[in-house]
Amino acid sequence: MFEHLDTAPPDAILGLNEAFRNDPNPDKINLSVGVYKDAAGRTPVLACVKEAERRLVEVESSKSYLAIDGLPEFGQLVRGLMFGPEHEITTSGRAVSLQTPGGTGALRVAADFLRKKLAGTTVWCSKPTWVNHPKIFEAADCPVKTYDYIDADGVGLDFDAMLKSLEQIPAGDVVLLHGCCHNPTGIDPTPEQWKQIAEVVRRRALLPLVDFAYQGFGESLEADVRGLREICSEGTEAIVCSSYSKNFGLYSERVGALTLIAEGPEAAQAALSHAKTCVRTNYSNPPQHGAAIVTTVLADAELRRQWEQELAEMRNRINSMREQFVQTMRTASPGHDFSFIAAQRGMFSFSGLTPLQVDELRTKHSVYVVTAGGRINVAGITPDNIERLCAAIGEVL
Ligand code: LMR
Repeated sequence: MFEHLDTAPPDAILGLNEAFRNDPNPDKINLSVGVYKDAAGRTPVLACVKEAERRLVEVESSKSYLAIDGLPEFGQLVRGLMFGPEHEITTSGRAVSLQTPGGTGALRVAADFLRKKLAGTTVWCSKPTWVNHPKIFEAADCPVKTYDYIDADGVGLDFDAMLKSLEQIPAGDVVLLHGCCHNPTGIDPTPEQWKQIAEVVRRRALLPLVDFAYQGFGESLEADVRGLREICSEGTEAIVCSSYSKNFGLYSERVGALTLIAEGPEAAQAALSHAKTCVRTNYSNPPQHGAAIVTTVLADAELRRQWEQELAEMRNRINSMREQFVQTMRTASPGHDFSFIAAQRGMFSFSGLTPLQVDELRTKHSVYVVTAGGRINVAGITPDNIERLCAAIGEVL
C-alpha cells in the first residue's frame, strides 16, 4: 500500500532538531528550533510550574474529558493576560477562547474555521514568516499570499512597503500579524507603526489574525501587547492564536489558545460553536495538564509574581546574549556588522547567512541554524558556546 510513496522532506525546523540529536560531535550547537536554554544550556522547568504541578497532583481527582473548548477559567485568564483583566475584550463577552494544543493547534483550528465559515478568504502572511504558517493554512485549503515586511538588507522593517502591500489586500481577507517578537526576523513595528497598521486593517475591512507566541520575550508582558491591543481596539473583530510554550517553558505540554473576537456576545457564541465543531472533528478536546498549570499560575498572586520574575530572567539572558554576540562577532569577523542583532527582540534573528554558509556551519562545525535567512535562535547561545559559535560563523563568512 505504501510502496509508491517517496520520503517527504524533513521539516525545515524540527527536521534540524532531529539531525542535531543524531550528530555525534560533543561540541555541537543547536540554534534551530525556538526553545529557550539557560546559561548552562538546559531548558529548565520553571519553578512556578513545578510548584503548580505539585499543587495539581494533590487536588486532581479525575482525568475525565475536558469540554471541547477546554478548561473554563483558562480562556478568561489568558484573555486577561493579553488584554488586561478590566479590558472590554476580557469582560464584555464579545471574545471567546478555546484551549488548544499549542499555538500551532490554535492556528490549525483557525484555518479550519476560516475555510468552513469564510470560504475563499486568502490569508496574507508577512514575507518572511514562520515557515509553518503557509503550510498550516494550505493544509486546510486556505489560499495563502504574502505582504512585504523586511528591508532589502534583511535587518529592519520596510514599513512603507509593508503599508503599501496591506493597502492592496482585498476587503474581507485575513492578514496574519506577529503580535511581538516576529518569527523569524526579530523585527517588530514600533508602537506608532502599530497604530498605522491598525488603521489600514480597519479602514480596508481586513480580518486580523494575530499570532501571539512570545508575550514577555520582547520588552515586558505589558509592552509586548501594545500591537495586539492596537489591532483589537474597540469594535474590531479579530482572531488571536496565543501560545504558552515559550513564556511558561511548557513546550511539550502543548498549551495554546484560540481567541475569537466578534462584534458582540451573540456573534462570539455562534463563532465558538463552529470552532468547537472544528476541534471535535480534529482532536476532539484538548489535553488538561499544561493548561491546568497555566491556569494555576495565573490565578495565584504568589505564583504569578514568581512566573513574571522567571520570565524576566529568560528575557534578560537572551538580550544579554544579543549584545555579547555582536561584540564577539566584531573580533571573529571584523568586516561584518552584526549590530542589528542587538536591536532585535524575542528568540530569533535573521543572521543573513546564505544557504551555503548555513550548510557549511552544519557540516563542518556542527552548528545548526535554519536555512531560510540563516535564522538563529538567540536563546540557544550560552557563555559556553558563544566563542566557538562566532569563530565558526567567522570562518564560513
Ligand atoms: C520555531 O519557530 O522554532 C518554534 O515556533 C517551534 C516550531 O514549532 O517551529
